[in-house]
Amino acid sequence: MLELKDICKVYNPGSVNEMCLFDKFNLTIDQGSFVSIVGSNGSGKTSMLNIVCGSIPIDSGEVRINGKNINGKKDFCRYQTIGRVYQNPSMGTCPHMTILENMSLADNKGKSFGLSKGVNRKHLDFYKEQLSVLGLGLENKMDTLVGALSGGQRQAVSLIMATLTPLDFLILDEHTAALDPKTAELIMALTDKVVKEKHLTTMMVTHNLRYAVEYGDRLLMLDKGQIVLDKAGADKAAISVEDILHLFNTISIECGN
Ligand SMILES: Nc1ncnc2c1ncn2[C@@H]1O[C@H](COP(=O)(O)OP(=O)(O)OP(=O)(O)O)[C@@H](O)[C@H]1O
Ligand SMILES: [Mg+2]
Repeated sequence: MLELKDICKVYNPGSVNEMCLFDKFNLTIDQGSFVSIVGSNGSGKTSMLNIVCGSIPIDSGEVRINGKNINGKKDFCRYQTIGRVYQNPSMGTCPHMTILENMSLADNKGKSFGLSKGVNRKHLDFYKEQLSVLGLGLENKMDTLVGALSGGQRQAVSLIMATLTPLDFLILDEHTAALDPKTAELIMALTDKVVKEKHLTTMMVTHNLRYAVEYGDRLLMLDKGQIVLDKAGADKAAISVEDILHLFNTISIECGN
């Protein structure tokens, strides 16, 4: 279980640009839950994910995993059990390395190893099996440089790499936003498949309201650092894209836009 407890986060404190984003922000996410997160630009979605990952400091509050305070745990330590896929397909992979080398790198996450030992041929079959789930034929291109793949292919490899080792959390930040509609659909379906097969606790930020409605078992909407919608289970299943759009518009009108 993940808990964000009374989180306070102020950007640029003491300057003219000071901005209090989170003021005693609370969120609990159950083990195995797949949470879709929507919200307008600047509502705090990425900041929230960064706080979970330890990528940005907080001013007060606690990040807890299974009841244990992990505030003091550095981001690179947290990433040993957190997989993250970014909006930009080039963020999660090394372009100058082959698919095999990238997979091996992901497999060795958190372990100390020299580059000479980086590619473990013994695991080749395992990597191929994982990639074959994608249905893109990448398992037959193990020696291809990742930089030579399309954005969609690269994002698919990023997803498999992020989920190769045992995880506490999968963090997805608009991971389909840079893809064409067909490839985005494919990556989204693959994401759902991987999440279900590996029983991953997942936080997915998306601007695609249909994905937010269709996928996951809980839906959150953020606005100005606050949760303005939180529906799970049957309540979530009953929500439509129109409902969320209506809420977006209501908030926007309240803001005077
Ligand atoms: N490093 C930073 N320094 C100062 N302000 C920041 C920083 N990162 C984010 N902010 C501010 O915090 C607010 C929330 O930003 P954040 O990136 O979390 O929003 P978001 O919901 O992910 O938006 P988007 O949908 O555009 O990705 C914004 O007002 C942003 O300007
Ligand atoms: Mg963001």
